[in-house]
Amino acid sequence: MSELILGIESSCDETSVAVVKDGKTILSNIVASQIKSHRRFGGVVPEVASRHHVEQITRCIDEALSQAQIEKNGLTAVAVTYGPGLVGALLIGVQAAKAFAWANDLPLIPVNHMAGHIYAACFETALQFPLLALVVSGGHTELVYMQEDASYEVLGETRDDAAGEAYDKVARVMGLSYPGGKEIDQLAHMGEDRYNFPRAMLHEDNFDFSFSGLKSAFINLTHNAEQRHETLSQEDLAASFQASVVDVLASKAIEAAKTYPVKQLIVAGGVAANQGLRETMKRKVAEELPDTNLIIPPLRLCGDNAAMIAAAGHVEFAKNNQADLALNACPGLGF
Ligand code: KG4
Ligand code: ZN
Repeated sequence: MSELILGIESSCDETSVAVVKDGKTILSNIVASQIKSHRRFGGVVPEVASRHHVEQITRCIDEALSQAQIEKNGLTAVAVTYGPGLVGALLIGVQAAKAFAWANDLPLIPVNHMAGHIYAACFETALQFPLLALVVSGGHTELVYMQEDASYEVLGETRDDAAGEAYDKVARVMGLSYPGGKEIDQLAHMGEDRYNFPRAMLHEDNFDFSFSGLKSAFINLTHNAEQRHETLSQEDLAASFQASVVDVLASKAIEAAKTYPVKQLIVAGGVAANQGLRETMKRKVAEELPDTNLIIPPLRLCGDNAAMIAAAGHVEFAKNNQADLALNACPGLGF
């Protein structure tokens, strides 16, 4: 009999519920985005996010089941993101999952949101170990080594801002709407890397990242130009900023894969949707790691969604990692 996992995700500004068969086939993946509500504030307002999750979660569960054409009693287990993320937002998903699991007598599987991002890659191709994952999102930037399923060793991470956070902050300075990553990416393709922004920690002997210096350099450049009443090209600014971020992310990921040889190199998380990063990774892996298989999830699975949570839940379930009804949200959860 097939295994059918209901995945629930509510860690930030997307309410999402999915049904995934045998850890690899998506039967439904409903994503209710709240971006429009947060946009006028220039970022995610935690209280507003929680309220939207409350309003959307039941509808998303119903829709995910109906689109998958699955009855509640046909499900095998419920997997839910319990961290990291906004505590109030996480709590809605966790409570909904607990209530659903209890009412339908189903096992409850706790899932780390960042593990979910990595497992989004398994919808592209079966994972092969050891592997290395560059996980880049709005809240995290990490290089994770995996010896086997559900085993995570963080080789390096950001010491300040996450890559997505840097994109969103810089976008705000440019007057673009939240979240600005996608728009900067589009502008970058029309401009040139003319401003030579710093590449922090690029030649250091570790796999950590830092993006706050780049952000400051960007802000200084634009403010100085403003004071001199000069107009800088938005396209060139975007291209220069993106070149710095992509250069550091790609170089460090490649370096890590040379130090820790792996079968697969995964790029995951919201920033993995970045066209510049995708192209650079493809080129560099082909040139420098011909024996490594690069996997980048399709765009719709890079951002937050519950299919990836169900996929990570599938491996946790196989390892018999279950939670009881005392499960709580863990906003600062790490690997
Ligand atoms: O993984 P995600 O959906 O949510 C978190 O777990 O944080 O990532 C959201 C982040 C935002 O910072 C957004 O600006 C960024 O991913 N992002 C991008 C692109 N699309 C989304 N950053 C750069 N280029 C893109 N194309
Ligand atoms: Zn995420």
